[in-house]
Amino acid sequence: MAKTDQPADDSIPQHIAIIMDGNGRWARARGLPRLAGHRAGTENLRRIIKACVEVGVKYLTVYAFSTENWGRPEDEVEGLMGIFDEVFERELAELLREGAQLRHIGRLEGMRPSLRKKVEKGIEQTKDNDRLILNVAFNYGGRDEIVDAIKAIMAEGVPPEQVDAELVSKYMYTKDVPDPDLVIRTSGEQRISNFLLWQAAYAEWIFPDVYWPDFGREQLLAAIEEYGRRERRYGKVLEE
Ligand code: IPE
Ligand code: IPE
Ligand code: MG
Repeated sequence: MAKTDQPADDSIPQHIAIIMDGNGRWARARGLPRLAGHRAGTENLRRIIKACVEVGVKYLTVYAFSTENWGRPEDEVEGLMGIFDEVFERELAELLREGAQLRHIGRLEGMRPSLRKKVEKGIEQTKDNDRLILNVAFNYGGRDEIVDAIKAIMAEGVPPEQVDAELVSKYMYTKDVPDPDLVIRTSGEQRISNFLLWQAAYAEWIFPDVYWPDFGREQLLAAIEEYGRRERRYGKVLEE
């Protein structure tokens, strides 16, 4: 279908996914410890959630902690978990105010028990909200997700002839969520880093040249505007 045939609000991505990168460099540029960057980055999420609700984005997936991030120095990992734990309640109040629903993708097992309890409670408390679905990717790895899907498909004894892309999608952590239309990675890095390997097959990518704590409403709106100018072809040739 030609772009002109589509409804006007197709220029707004239904699902935005964000690789929130650059906290450490943001802090270093200010002569601060890396953890100060993580704190600023965690707090920044609130601005982006608000802006997504305002603009009418329905799904927001954020990469908070990857399966590879456990390999960072212990004090950084511990500090980061402490920040998540500490700010969670405040952030949850904000989610409730905005009518957002919290979900988690990844393996919750890796989360310390105090934080895990809060997250599970938050998921329960927001389950009826539908203005925005916020998927937090924590202890998330795209390869682990695919491995978990393969295991579940095999364990259920699904016959090979029934396995197709649609079925595999149903075994992903994101089973009820449409694929991301737009993936944003801040900080200037241009790589996928094990994020949504399956789901981002046809996403548009934007790499704003700012560190995550500096990525605010204005930068989000600029990215959405750029997305609106993109022509999504899905391998086809669009009609003139
Ligand atoms: C992203 O910022 C946050 C996490 C990965 C948890 P970084 O900590 O990767 O920041 P840089 O890339 O070192 O600047
Ligand atoms: C990706 O960022 C993970 C998150 C933002 C949570 P990293 O900073 O960990 O990725 P690499 O190491 O630069 O690829
Ligand atoms: Mg990084």
